[in-house]
Formats: sequence, structure tokens, C-alpha cells
Amino acid sequence: MFDPSPFDVMPYLETERLVLRKMEMRDAPDMYEYSRDPQVAKHVLWEAHTSVSDTKAYIRYMLRKYRAGEPSSWCIVEKSTDKVVGTIGYMWYQKDNSSAEVGYSLARRCWNRGYMTEALRAVLDYTFRELGFNRVEAQHETDNGASGAVMRKCGMQKEGTLRSRLYNKGKYVDVDLYAILRKDYLSKTRV
Ligand SMILES: CC(C)(COP(=O)(O)OP(=O)(O)OC[C@H]1O[C@@H](n2cnc3c(N)ncnc32)[C@H](O)[C@@H]1OP(=O)(O)O)[C@@H](O)C(=O)NCCC(=O)NCCS
Repeated sequence: MFDPSPFDVMPYLETERLVLRKMEMRDAPDMYEYSRDPQVAKHVLWEAHTSVSDTKAYIRYMLRKYRAGEPSSWCIVEKSTDKVVGTIGYMWYQKDNSSAEVGYSLARRCWNRGYMTEALRAVLDYTFRELGFNRVEAQHETDNGASGAVMRKCGMQKEGTLRSRLYNKGKYVDVDLYAILRKDYLSKTRV
């Protein structure tokens, strides 16, 4: 018998302005709308999509992960427009260390309205309270200040700068590593 995976269920999560749910193929047009933006893709490890086929291929990849119970992402739906405006999810999971890394991206028209802070809080809450993980990491390129601000607003602490950690879009980039522990999260938030 195989152990159940913590990612067998990617539950529907709701915040004040957003819904986080599994992606579906019908989300491709909404997701292509922002995934084609080079500004959105600038600090992530994927290239801006050049056609909706790229977006469909990404969704197919995510559907395979859902089926396999592998670390995967939610899409972020803006309640006021009922449009998919981003994604957030797990990049990897280490069972032995009870730790995972989260990553996210959001349509440019939605930036600086607190959306990703709202989404990341919901994901941390789920990860620590429901999945019971011990540690959640996130990392951002050092010149992506908005992403670091999101991590800090969610109570994550910077643990250091990893020099030339990634080769992204033609150059080596420095990355700031952030993390939060379950005990710190639970002590700072209402049970
Ligand atoms: C990073 C990203 C997810 C932030 O999402 P968001 O919903 O705009 O984030 P929030 O509104 O919750 O918070 C953004 C914070 O960054 C601050 N900020 C914006 N631009 C900034 C900059 N250049 N440097 C420092 N802080 C900045 C904002 O003022 C805000 O902080 P405040 O609430 O204290 O004023 C979004 O910009 C994005 O999707 N970027 C493209 C993809 C990406 O880079 N993903 C992350 C990869 S690590």
C-alpha cells in the first residue's frame, strides 16, 4: 500500500477577495492573458507564453500532478470578476523534513492590491494547520522586491542571500531565501 500524499487533495480555499482552486482546461484563456506578459514572467522560471497552447500545456502538466498526488498549484480566481488572475502552490515537498517551497505569480493589473499576501496567508494556514508541515520556504530574485514584501507580510523571515543561485533568462541571479516554521506561524495566528 502506498501512503496517501498530502497533495492528493488540493482543496478549495476562500479568502475575502479570492478563491484558490484546482486549475481546469477551461481556465486557459484567462491564464494566457497574463502569462503572455513578459513583466509577469521576468522573475519566474518560465518564459512568457507565446500562444494559448503554452498555457494549455502548463495546465495539462498541472492536471497530471493532481492525478499523481505530486506538489502542485492552485489557480487564483478574483471573486469580483470571476477571472483566473494567477497561481500559487508548492514547488517541492520533502516528506522526511516535513518542508515545502511555495511559489506564485499574478496578473499585472492586480499587483499591489494585497492579493498575493491574501493568497499566501491562506496557503500557509492550510499548510500548517491542515497538512501539519514543519517548514515552508519561498525564494525570490533579489531585484523582485514586491515578492519579498509579500513573504515578510506573511510572517516569513529572510534566512540569507544565495549568490548566483539561478540561471534565469540569460543571466545568473542572486536569490533571497525566506522561511517560516509551523511553531512560529501558530504562535502568531489565532488557533
Ligand atoms: C510578486 C507578486 C506576486 C506580488 O503580488 P501582489 O499581489 O502585488 O503583492 P501584494 O500587493 O500582496 O504586496 C506587494 C508589496 O510589495 C510592495 N512593492 C511593490 N513593488 C515593490 C518593489 N519594487 N520593491 C519593494 N516592494 C515593492 C508593495 O508596496 C506591497 O507592499 P505593501 O502592502 O507593504 O505596500 C506580483 O508582483 C507578481 O506576480 N509578479 C510577477 C511574478 C513574480 O515575480 N512572482 C514571484 C516570483 S518569486
